[in-house]
Amino acid sequence: MMGASRLEQTDALFRKNLVIQRRACKTNCCLILFPLLLCSVIGGLQILVNHASSHDVPTHFDCSCSNVTIDENAMGGMDCASDCPLPRAPKWPPLLRLPQPKYRAVQDGLFPSFTDLPDASCRATWSCPATFLVTGGNQSFVGSVTDSMFIAQSSSVNLSVDIAPLSDFVLADDFTFLQNKCFPGLALFYPVQLGNEIVSEEARCAEGLMLWRDSSWTINDEIYRGSYQGNNEKKTDEIAAAYDFLSSDQANFNLIISYNSSNNYDEYLESEYPVPLYDQAGSVQKPHSVQVARLSNMASNAYLNLRGNDLKMSFDFVKEMPRAARHLGPIDISPLIGKLPFVWTMELLFPVILSNIVYEKQKKLRIMMKMHGLGDLPYWTISYCYFLLLSLLYVLSFMLFGSVLGLRFFRQNSYGVQFVLYFSYMNLQISFAFLVATCFSSVRTATVTGYFYIFVSGLLSEVLFRSYVEDISLSRSWIAVMELLPAFSLYRIVYELSQSTWAGSYMVSSGIRWIDLNDPENGLAGVLTIMVIEWCVFLLFTFYLDHFGSFQNGIRKVAALVYSCINGNHFQAAQQNIQLQEFGASVEMERADVIKERETVEQISKESNRSYSVICSKLKKVYHGKDGNANKTAVREISLCMSRGQCFGILGPNGAGKTTLVNLLTGFSKPTSGTAYIEGMDIRLNMDKIYTGIGVCPQDDLLWENLTGREHLMFYGRLKRLKGAALAEAIEQSLRSMHLIAGGIADKLVGKYSGGMKRRLSVAISLIGDPKVVYMDEPSSGLDPASRKNLWTAVKSAKQDRTIILTTHSMEEAEVLCDRIGIIANGSLQCIGSSKELKQRYGGSSVLTVTTPAGEEEEEVEMLVQSILPAARRVYRVSGTQRFELPKQGMKISEVFQAMEQAKSRLHILAWGLADVTLEDVFVRVAKECDMPTAT
Ligand SMILES: *[C@@H]1O[C@H](CO)[C@@H](O)[C@H](O)[C@H]1NC(C)=O
Ligand SMILES: *[C@@H]1O[C@H](CO)[C@@H](O)[C@H](O)[C@H]1NC(C)=O
Ligand SMILES: *[C@@H]1O[C@H](CO)[C@@H](O)[C@H](O)[C@H]1NC(C)=O
Repeated sequence: MMGASRLEQTDALFRKNLVIQRRACKTNCCLILFPLLLCSVIGGLQILVNHASSHDVPTHFDCSCSNVTIDENAMGGMDCASDCPLPRAPKWPPLLRLPQPKYRAVQDGLFPSFTDLPDASCRATWSCPATFLVTGGNQSFVGSVTDSMFIAQSSSVNLSVDIAPLSDFVLADDFTFLQNKCFPGLALFYPVQLGNEIVSEEARCAEGLMLWRDSSWTINDEIYRGSYQGNNEKKTDEIAAAYDFLSSDQANFNLIISYNSSNNYDEYLESEYPVPLYDQAGSVQKPHSVQVARLSNMASNAYLNLRGNDLKMSFDFVKEMPRAARHLGPIDISPLIGKLPFVWTMELLFPVILSNIVYEKQKKLRIMMKMHGLGDLPYWTISYCYFLLLSLLYVLSFMLFGSVLGLRFFRQNSYGVQFVLYFSYMNLQISFAFLVATCFSSVRTATVTGYFYIFVSGLLSEVLFRSYVEDISLSRSWIAVMELLPAFSLYRIVYELSQSTWAGSYMVSSGIRWIDLNDPENGLAGVLTIMVIEWCVFLLFTFYLDHFGSFQNGIRKVAALVYSCINGNHFQAAQQNIQLQEFGASVEMERADVIKERETVEQISKESNRSYSVICSKLKKVYHGKDGNANKTAVREISLCMSRGQCFGILGPNGAGKTTLVNLLTGFSKPTSGTAYIEGMDIRLNMDKIYTGIGVCPQDDLLWENLTGREHLMFYGRLKRLKGAALAEAIEQSLRSMHLIAGGIADKLVGKYSGGMKRRLSVAISLIGDPKVVYMDEPSSGLDPASRKNLWTAVKSAKQDRTIILTTHSMEEAEVLCDRIGIIANGSLQCIGSSKELKQRYGGSSVLTVTTPAGEEEEEVEMLVQSILPAARRVYRVSGTQRFELPKQGMKISEVFQAMEQAKSRLHILAWGLADVTLEDVFVRVAKECDMPTAT
């Protein structure tokens, strides 16, 4: 037997799949275009954000302030966005940061011991003074210093012309200037540049209260307790700052300054207090950065003032350093959206691949193809290539749409690197799906599990894995271990790619390039290595599990292979097997024909006679009982042989073990012991080779719904090495013989076929390409009488030079088609022979049927029959109709006729008939005998 070469098988499968995929074009296109949906959503959001932010431009992105030439006589009043270029920085007065008025220290119970604090009523009018605490070695000296800290004014000051004296005033960040004593109407006017305009700005007066404390301990304590914040309501008594003058006197000046360094802007902006203009964009001037300088300058100037000499240290302005523009592009929303949508989209193909593979498994299409000679390698190659192509298109469409819609995630990173990473992931995903598919036999479970997996693994990677990656203290090898889960590897890739683009929005970064793969920082090289290794491992495992079914099975099979290699010859191995089992042979009453068959089998397996194409040698199959049920022996040591050119019929009641026997012969299941040889090849070892020369018509039609009948035949014909004109002719002929030509049936999708048409197609498939052994499991079930006749003619003409094994429930069919018939019951062969032999052997009698009116005459009829032939036996009696079995020995037909004619005159015989025993009678009898308790 020569099967099609791997290449031919691949070609056949490829053409078949191409047709199927072309039919499923719409689904495939939708799948490939799915990334468009995601990218459009993100891209659309991006456009919305860009649009929205373009309205903000005047306040947010107006960088005109930096282009204005700053008038040296005015201060910069307008803030530039922090990202704007700042070639010439404006001047800012050094502001003192004060606590908000409502939090300034008052007498409210937090400091019961200090009565010099202002009354709490000031909070209502926003007029609480800012309290400074002072201490030192010499109270009178300290007092004279603090007295001159704020230059007292008697009327409002207008600095519109010369702003130099501004440094004499202690300006606070809340539009106030500090005085020891305020009175209504006291204000300070100074010019401020707003854009190109100079406006007069007003600062109100605020009181600065200098309070003496005895020691720095007291100060410390007071500040500490004042910062108390209640659980629910904020209750604080904030002190603006504290001075400890230590041992300062006229000759030396020492100072400790306590200040509040926290810079809580958010809270500040939320408060109902009028927000100072300077702080609008938040970061041009950080008050706390000049807080110390301002506080120390206040004290130093007061000290110099005390010393006389007209010395003055002016703290006039602060100026930021000029700087170039930072990020000028639109806000990128990919970091906000996160990595999860990308990860999920990439993983989406996983359940698709999984359910596709499991579908062929569940529908037994895979095994059907295998039984017609399709090897594992071509099957996996084609499946792999198809899914790879799909994945490739998917990735390309993802990258294309992402780039076209302007997602930074795709645009910033090198396309080559992205492609390599995604491509590797897709390969890994396919092999992973292949591996996982070996665990499933139902499409629904597989699909649900697949989607569940991508959902959960995506979430886990976002919630769990991400925190591990970002945790620098965690060993990188742990991360590598976690990346063994393909979803985590994928997340890592997406994470690193998006991380680099995120950095790219603020720094000069160009995303991930080839060179960055060497950077251990991003771990991409590691991920790539893990994926490649895992890919190989997954494929190997898949191959192993697919080939051997399970681990134990695999070990057993390898052991058997080694065993047969050592013994050199498959026949010998089988021989030993038989001898080993001799002891266990059941001592059951067997009929002569069965024993003879067994002897024949033993004889020919010794001689390796080549005229027999199928030899079963003590085939046995035991199903292990599950959940405490007893083991069930489905087939008990059946020995059979079938020669070429024969049609062998296997009959038997339901559950007798026929289907199990056929399953054993076709490799669906493995024998528990014993074996069979098909064309000289052992079913335990050479099933793959056997498959290239057999045809199978299974009980259920294993067909693709979206292929036509002709395409089915084309595919299986190619698997059987037919090509070109020979293929076309074989198809044409088999279609004709199965009557599938008329009305264009052959070119309709199988999904639209009726049950009978599918059946005929299945038979045609099993016969195409001249197989040496053909199994037909109830080929004519569901066929109308005419089609059945046609089928029989076709099977009969196909019988030459091949063995056909047929199971059927139709005795008529068995009689017409089968040269030999074996009846199986209870898992063992009950009788074997041609239908004539069986009838003779088991029938050995004729059947007399007599019908009389129901009732009284029945017994008379029985007596009459007994008188004709004492050995007669009644088989059944139903409302007047009785059936008797008359042994042929001693029976003369003429006597029966005579007796019946005579009886007609005195009895009311409505009808009577004498018939030879039928195969059906034999069957019923054999089945009945087996059911009798004597068997045990
Ligand atoms: C405290 O300072 C004053 C001048 O401010 C000085 O007259 C007095 O002697 C100083 N006291 C001590 C104990 O040094
Ligand atoms: C301050 O002086 C300028 C110019 O002398 C004048 O235009 C402005 O109105 C004055 N501001 C106040 C509040 O008096
Ligand atoms: C320091 O300032 C912050 C915010 O302005 C404030 O919440 C905190 O209470 C202050 N601390 C003290 C000790 O006053």
